[in-house]
Amino acid sequence: MARKFFVGGNWKCSGTTEEVKKIVTTLNEAEVPSHDVVEVVVSPPFVFLTLVKSLLRSDFHVAAQNCWVRKGGAFTGEVSAEMLVNLGIPWVIIGHSERRALLNESNEFVGDKVAYALSQCLKVIACIGETLEQRESGSTMAVVAAQTKAIADKVTNWDNVVLAYEPVWAIGTGKVATPAQAQEVHCELRKWLNQNVGADIAASVRIIYGGSVNGANCKELAGQPDVDGFLVGGASLKPEFVDIIKSAT
Ligand code: G3H
Repeated sequence: MARKFFVGGNWKCSGTTEEVKKIVTTLNEAEVPSHDVVEVVVSPPFVFLTLVKSLLRSDFHVAAQNCWVRKGGAFTGEVSAEMLVNLGIPWVIIGHSERRALLNESNEFVGDKVAYALSQCLKVIACIGETLEQRESGSTMAVVAAQTKAIADKVTNWDNVVLAYEPVWAIGTGKVATPAQAQEVHCELRKWLNQNVGADIAASVRIIYGGSVNGANCKELAGQPDVDGFLVGGASLKPEFVDIIKSAT
């Protein structure tokens, strides 16, 4: 089953109104492969979501970087899935390693969040990935399988889930995984999905790679059979994000 290439840009906690407008202008002026070939989603901070949505070309979409685990209410500082839906935001990133590490988001909490966001008809980019210590101790697959299982335990319909494999040691470090390292984990993850979730889902779910992707290294990574796209941090704030989108072809 053909999996459409997916390129996400995670702007994290960056940008001023002027900087955000400049990035959007660059994207709007870019010549990129058609929406039939590549799905592009950019994820500004909450405060810029509606601005970006209103300015961004119609073939690109926006994602929030997080949402609350259940219905909104007395949860100061949180943003609910319902609010994102109300604003017409179609996507949300859940379980990014920065939130797992800095805000102590557990596998189970991430699984609950993914399930709740899906129940509200949001599409989810669910992040998983091992630390350097875990990789060096040989537990990469055990870690990403446990993270994926916590999602699989709560989710039955995977149509609106993109799985983002982001090794923590590669995020923001300039130490990108080699194409072989990325392919190995993506392939093992697909096998895990095949054995534990179902053959159809394993064949159709997109597994994208994140961690120091840039305009220079994207093409070779994109050529790996189980790499279905990217979740890009730092380079998504720069014009080279357009080159990363173009690596779809
Ligand atoms: O969500 C994106 C990842 O954290 C990758 O960030 O491209 O700056 O390494 P990076």
